[in-house]
Amino acid sequence: MEIDLLIHSANQLLTLTETPQRGHTLGELGLISNGALAVNLGRIIASGKSEDFLSRYHPKTSFDAGGKVVLPGFVDPHTHLVWAGDRALEFEQRLAGKSYMEIMASGGGIISTVNKTRAASVEQLISETLPRLDQMLTHGTTTAEVKTGYGLNTETEIKLLETILQLDELHPVDLVPTFLGAHAVPPEYKGQTDRYTDLVCNEMLPAVKRWWLQRSPQRTLPFVDVFCEEGAFDLAQSRRILETAQDLGFPLKIHADEFKNLGGTALAATLNAASADHLVVTPEEEILRLGASDTVAVSLPNTPFGLASPAYTPAKQILEAGGILALATDLNPGTAWGESMQFALALACRYLRLTPAEAIAAATINAAAAIRIEQDTGSLANGKKADILVLNAPDYRHLGYRFGVNLVETVFKYGQIVSAFH
Ligand code: NIG
Ligand code: FE
Repeated sequence: MEIDLLIHSANQLLTLTETPQRGHTLGELGLISNGALAVNLGRIIASGKSEDFLSRYHPKTSFDAGGKVVLPGFVDPHTHLVWAGDRALEFEQRLAGKSYMEIMASGGGIISTVNKTRAASVEQLISETLPRLDQMLTHGTTTAEVKTGYGLNTETEIKLLETILQLDELHPVDLVPTFLGAHAVPPEYKGQTDRYTDLVCNEMLPAVKRWWLQRSPQRTLPFVDVFCEEGAFDLAQSRRILETAQDLGFPLKIHADEFKNLGGTALAATLNAASADHLVVTPEEEILRLGASDTVAVSLPNTPFGLASPAYTPAKQILEAGGILALATDLNPGTAWGESMQFALALACRYLRLTPAEAIAAATINAAAAIRIEQDTGSLANGKKADILVLNAPDYRHLGYRFGVNLVETVFKYGQIVSAFH
C-alpha cells in the first residue's frame, strides 16, 4: 500500500491509549518494540512491527528511528504564553524573601505584565511570543492551550485572543485558546473585586462571545478560566463568572488551590469543568469529588519549582481517588518561565512520585483530555494527527530520568518534520 510516511525500527514505539487514563490505570504506554508507524495525509493509519510494515507499505518518505524512542507529541494544557516584557526583577525580590502574593498585592506580579501587555501591539506580542513557541516545539510540544489574562479589560483581552489566533496560523504548534479575564483585579478596580466580577460577567463574556462568533465561527468557543485564590477571586466570584460563562456556552477551567484552599476544585467538579489546575493545597474531600468526576486534574510542577516552594500536587492521592491526572508547564513570566514539558516530567517523577510511564501518559493523552481534544491527539491511535516525537534515547525512561537537556531530536507535525537536530 502506498503511504506518505513510514517511521520504522523504533527501539520503543509508544502508542499510548486512545482514551484518557483514569486513576491507577495511568502509565499504559502501548509499547511496541522494533515498532513502526504508518502515516497518510497527516494522520496515523496504523502502528505495528517494523518487520511487517517494511514489506506491507510503500512510503513516499521513510524515516529510520533505529535505536530510538518514538512517542506522541506532548500536549501542554496550561500556558500563559502571550505576554510582553519579563519579571526578572521580581525573581530577585522573591529570592530576597518577598512572596509571590505580596508582590502582587503591592501592584507588581501579574499587573506589571498587564501594564506592558496593554501597551503592546498585536505585532509586538507576536514577535515576543514566537521564540517561546519555537522553544516549545523543539522541546516536543505539538499542541498547547494558551490563556489571555494580561489584558483585564475587554479591548486588551480581545487583542490577546486575536494574537493567539494569528499565532496559531503562523506557527506549527496548534493552539487552543482560553479566556482568563478573571486572572487578577486590574488597578482601575483595585479593592472592588465584586465590581470587576460584574464587568467580566456582564460585559466581557458577552463581548468575547460576540467577537468570537464573528472572527472564528468555525472554531468552538474558547475555555473560560478564573484564578480562584485569596487576593484574586473568591469562591462566590469564581462561581458567578464560571456559571455565567457556562450559560453562554463556554467550556470551563479553573486555577484552584495554588496557595489557599477556597473550594475551587469542588466547584470545577460540580460545573463539569474540563480541568482544575494547580491543586497543591487541595483537601482530601475535594480530591474525592474530583476523582469521581470527568474534570481533569492538571498539575503544574514547574510552578512550585519556579517559586522555590516545597509543596507540590498530591498526585498519588488524586490517582488513588480515580482522578484523571495531567501535566502542564504553566509557562508564564512570573512563576514559571520554562517552555519544556520534559522539565515538568522530570519534576513530576521526583516530587509527584510518578513513574516515567505515568508522567508520559499525563503529558500526552491525559493532557489532551484536559483541553478536550483527546479524540484528535495525545496518542498514536489510528485516525489521530501524526504529531510524533523521536527521542535521542534508547529507552522511554530517559524522559524524567535526565533533565536540563533536550532529548527530543525530531518533531513531526501532521506527518511533516518541523524540527530536527542531528
Ligand atoms: O498560573 N496563578 C496565577 N497565574 C499564573 C501566574 C501568572 C503570572 O504570575 O504572571 C499561574 O501561576
Ligand atoms: Fe496558570
